[in-house]
Amino acid sequence: STGYDAHLRVWRGDAEAGDLADFTVEVNEGEVVLDVIHRLQATQAPDLAVRWNCKAGKCGSCSAEIDGRPRLMCMTRMSLFDPAQTITITPLRTFPVVRDLVTDVEFNYEKAREIPAFVPPEDLGPGEYRMRQEDVERSQEFRKCIECFLCQDVCHVVRDHEENKEAFAGPRFLMRMAELDMHPLDDAERAGLDRKRAVREDHGLGYCNITKCCTEVCPESIKITDNALIPMKERAADRAYDPLVWLGNKIRRR
Ligand code: SF4
Ligand code: F3S
Ligand code: FES
Repeated sequence: STGYDAHLRVWRGDAEAGDLADFTVEVNEGEVVLDVIHRLQATQAPDLAVRWNCKAGKCGSCSAEIDGRPRLMCMTRMSLFDPAQTITITPLRTFPVVRDLVTDVEFNYEKAREIPAFVPPEDLGPGEYRMRQEDVERSQEFRKCIECFLCQDVCHVVRDHEENKEAFAGPRFLMRMAELDMHPLDDAERAGLDRKRAVREDHGLGYCNITKCCTEVCPESIKITDNALIPMKERAADRAYDPLVWLGNKIRRR
């Protein structure tokens, strides 16, 4: 057997207080971090709170930070780590802790609710939509999102900056607005919506200075920055797009 004992340091606590706790837990070949967390629960810490569902990287529930990097616990192989090292597992830092590894991700649902839905074209019925393949593929890429909120967690605009949360929707939702604005059949005007103005003025697109950390942590490998945020910045800039105006905005807002 290639089993070994792993050294884990797991954050335990609630909204009031907490601390890291050390554990030694058996690991077997082929296991992921979530397997080891489940074994920890089964053998030593039955009251450890952890959220998970599919164990297949598709439900977006098991998000946590492993050695400070936002990851899905069910998709992070133990073989990634040196057996001798201590692996530190902490809850998502950008959202309030409920207990142990479980955070309250309500911020994201609030941001989702602020985005008006797709406005169907008035003169076309379902089944009559015609779109170019590249437009279909763009939406399909963005819709691979599993709402794990790892991108929301890692973005420096809101990570450790509670004060920016009200004005900034975060990469996942800026991407959603970009999807709608670039959708050739979205008839926003008919509903009196100006998505370009909204993304700029209500959802803080200007706070994003394209660090691409969101793209780096996305488990679906969605090119959030290149395919959604940068095109949206170009679309939402004043008609005469001027990179110097944009740079000025970035500097003022930091
Ligand atoms: Fe997760 Fe990627 Fe969706 Fe962000 S865009 S919530 S990282 S799947
Ligand atoms: Fe944040 Fe991604 Fe922009 S991490 S700063 S939203 S490129
Ligand atoms: Fe569903 Fe990890 S348990 S993504």
